[in-house]
Amino acid sequence: PEIRREDYRPFPWIVSETRLDFDLGIDCTRVRSTLTIARNAKADRSSTIRLNGDGIEATSVTVDGEPTQSWVMDGDDLVLTLPGDAHEIGIETEIDPSANSQLMGLYASSGMLCTQCEAEGFRRITFFPDRPDVLSTYSVRMSGSKDRFPVLLCNGNRVATGEEGDTHWAEWHDPWPKPSYLFALVAGDLVARSASFTTMGGREVELNVWVREGDLDRTEHAMESLKRSMKWDEEVFGREYDLDLFNIVAVSDFNMGAMENKGLNIFNTKYVLADPETATDGDYDGVEGVIGHEYFHNWSGNRITCRDWFQLSLKEGFTVLRDQLFSADMGSEPVKRIEDVRILRGVQFPEDSGPLAHPIRPDSYREISNFYTATVYNKGAEVIRMMRTMAGEERFRKGTDLYFDRHDGEAATCEDFVKSIEDGAALDLTRFRRWYSQAGTPRVGVTLEHEGETARLTLTQTVPATPGQSEKQPMPIPLKLALFDRASGTHRGEELVILNEDRAEVTFDGFTEKPILSINRTFSAPVTIERDVSREELVFLAEKDDDPFARYEAMQELMTGHLVADVTDDLDDDEREAAREDIARAMRSVLEDDQLDDLMRGELLMMPGATYVAEQMLVADPGRIHARREALKTALGTRLAGSLQEVYARTENMPFSLDAGAKGARKVKTLALAYIAASDPAKAVELAARQYDRADNMTDRQGALMVLAGLDSAERTGKLLDFYNRYQNNALVIDKWFAIQAGSLHPRAIEHVKALRDHPDFTLKNPNRVRSLYMAFAANPAAFHAEDGEGYAIIADLILELDPINAQTTARFVPPLGRWRRIEEKRAKLMREALERIAAAPKLSRDTFEQVARSLGRG
Ligand code: ARG
Ligand code: ZN
Repeated sequence: PEIRREDYRPFPWIVSETRLDFDLGIDCTRVRSTLTIARNAKADRSSTIRLNGDGIEATSVTVDGEPTQSWVMDGDDLVLTLPGDAHEIGIETEIDPSANSQLMGLYASSGMLCTQCEAEGFRRITFFPDRPDVLSTYSVRMSGSKDRFPVLLCNGNRVATGEEGDTHWAEWHDPWPKPSYLFALVAGDLVARSASFTTMGGREVELNVWVREGDLDRTEHAMESLKRSMKWDEEVFGREYDLDLFNIVAVSDFNMGAMENKGLNIFNTKYVLADPETATDGDYDGVEGVIGHEYFHNWSGNRITCRDWFQLSLKEGFTVLRDQLFSADMGSEPVKRIEDVRILRGVQFPEDSGPLAHPIRPDSYREISNFYTATVYNKGAEVIRMMRTMAGEERFRKGTDLYFDRHDGEAATCEDFVKSIEDGAALDLTRFRRWYSQAGTPRVGVTLEHEGETARLTLTQTVPATPGQSEKQPMPIPLKLALFDRASGTHRGEELVILNEDRAEVTFDGFTEKPILSINRTFSAPVTIERDVSREELVFLAEKDDDPFARYEAMQELMTGHLVADVTDDLDDDEREAAREDIARAMRSVLEDDQLDDLMRGELLMMPGATYVAEQMLVADPGRIHARREALKTALGTRLAGSLQEVYARTENMPFSLDAGAKGARKVKTLALAYIAASDPAKAVELAARQYDRADNMTDRQGALMVLAGLDSAERTGKLLDFYNRYQNNALVIDKWFAIQAGSLHPRAIEHVKALRDHPDFTLKNPNRVRSLYMAFAANPAAFHAEDGEGYAIIADLILELDPINAQTTARFVPPLGRWRRIEEKRAKLMREALERIAAAPKLSRDTFEQVARSLGRG
């Protein structure tokens, strides 16, 4: 049963009002719903209404107040025959939140009740047209034990409360019509950090961040991030908040990062709780980014939602772009850009070149949860970023203003968005629309020739074939570039060249000497650049490019190019030495450049990830890549020992603060330590143990422990034990403890993972814990790709065991195995066997089935 984009039909009924009455209990919640419906004049006429359900039963059905028998179950859906044009439908269901391990719909999490309805969870609560284009005004009554659920929250505003004996109730009304996926409810024993924000129009908004009792003093950063998000969206996009209340609730059991329910965002605790003792600098940034993301959805998602789930990138791609721009404004713009590109290339590029490749606006799916992907989110953001680059900031803003204005209150399409940008920004996007329909990362071939005083740039593009799309059309690719003069180390200004066709030539005059090309600056297009560039030119750019991203890129190219050669070409010692010397030279200039801030220095020092290196090859040998990559690390550590130790000494004792200087110092400190660990393990153990003991913050402590975890020593055991004992009562930190071991460079990481799954703190019921052990492991290139296939078997076992418990979380473990076509023969066979073993299971969830089938090429 595939659902296809082209099959979209408007729903035959309008549901103007939805009233819900919840009788809350952990193992039995009664739900009565009343829907006010009328025929939709803009849709085909139907004498029935299909109300979606998922594993629920109706205990009573009424039409206009009268019990009726004129309904049937069609699979999980309830189909009701209706005599007239307007009715009131009443339905009762009973659900058991404590038994809901899928964490979709209404479920229990450490004693409280909460919901997750996107994409199709509402149908697990009550029968409803559970599709994003059915917008309705919700009024909700919730009642439950005062003792168990002292706090009762829902969307919108609280309009009445009361109590009877030991139960109490609250009534909520949300004035903004919304689709069912934005419904939310929370009931539990919670405390709030409260504040207020005055909008640009003078509306005073009450803000609350709700957590469990002991967590309150770790909510300050979340609250400050929320206020900054609200202010930023007013200033940068002209968007103002539209209710008097904004609630955020943190829950420990959550499938994803967070959810933008109207007026009641629900978050994974991971993206709310932070203090220096328990959260790393990366965690702080994650909280700020996700708080921003969910808040920005209030306009890009809630006020304007999606017509159908094929349009998911309409809200997600745009909102990711908005959160990226927000974080860039709050911190370092170039560093944020580099981090975003690293995620794109590390996760989305492999997706785009594998069996699960799909356009940012997919054409079909079996299970929509499988399409909450890096392609829809991150490539979606890149596509909109390209429009912004081509239009310029000011005209882009005119486009987004027009979009918000034109489609406010609607369920819109990606086409509506593109058309608004086209009209508002005065940009012709006719051909650019192909970015929405074609999957695959374009490859751009670049050659630069020089003759007389002319530099001639030839650009070509090919978009690779992807499953279901063998023929591709050229797409407009905006490339920022600059031509550097070798002698002066400067250029005459950046240009934007848009490659519209398969091939283009651009000439530049006035160059007596061949210039050095810096291209795809700021990563202006999400493409792979293929060019012949000498190491000498890359060293030049790594040292001198004034675009920090391009400088980073030159460093990456320098290392990636060498690693690919070292893995595939059997370099002789001289060639290898020469390459290492060039890389070391560029790194030394990075280590010693006092114009650089440490946050940026850290980026320039990072080696390309093993997955990214593998991605450069048609068929990769992960074992060899890992070995050559580690060897390069050792060589660099040895060559740069002096500079690394200087950097370490300079940053070692810097007092803790959250400002950029101190954050940067922490970043380069642990990076330096990692290089030292590769070249002088004994020294590294000594430094790491000291760093661990003296740490007054989680960044330093976790960094030290990560280095120790990869090296055999008494300190390894001691510090791991200390860490566990110290943070035993903090689930998010114990997650780190699992992840550090599962992701470590230690040669016996597999054994450690097997032991950890029997650890009393391990549970399959909590997605954060599952991911901390197994995602970290699947991303551990050496251990996951163990030659005998044991890593693949471990993931396959997990998939089979977890699937009945939590399908959505399970399906996310399939893609690492799905990479088999790009892996050398022996391992590929083992990976495929693991997939076949999963496919042969008697009963698989739709989520996992779809991913496994597609991974095996059985679409
Ligand atoms: N809309 C949420 C976000 O991006 C993600 C929720 C997805 N949930 C799911 N079960 N697929 O912020
Ligand atoms: Zn989102």
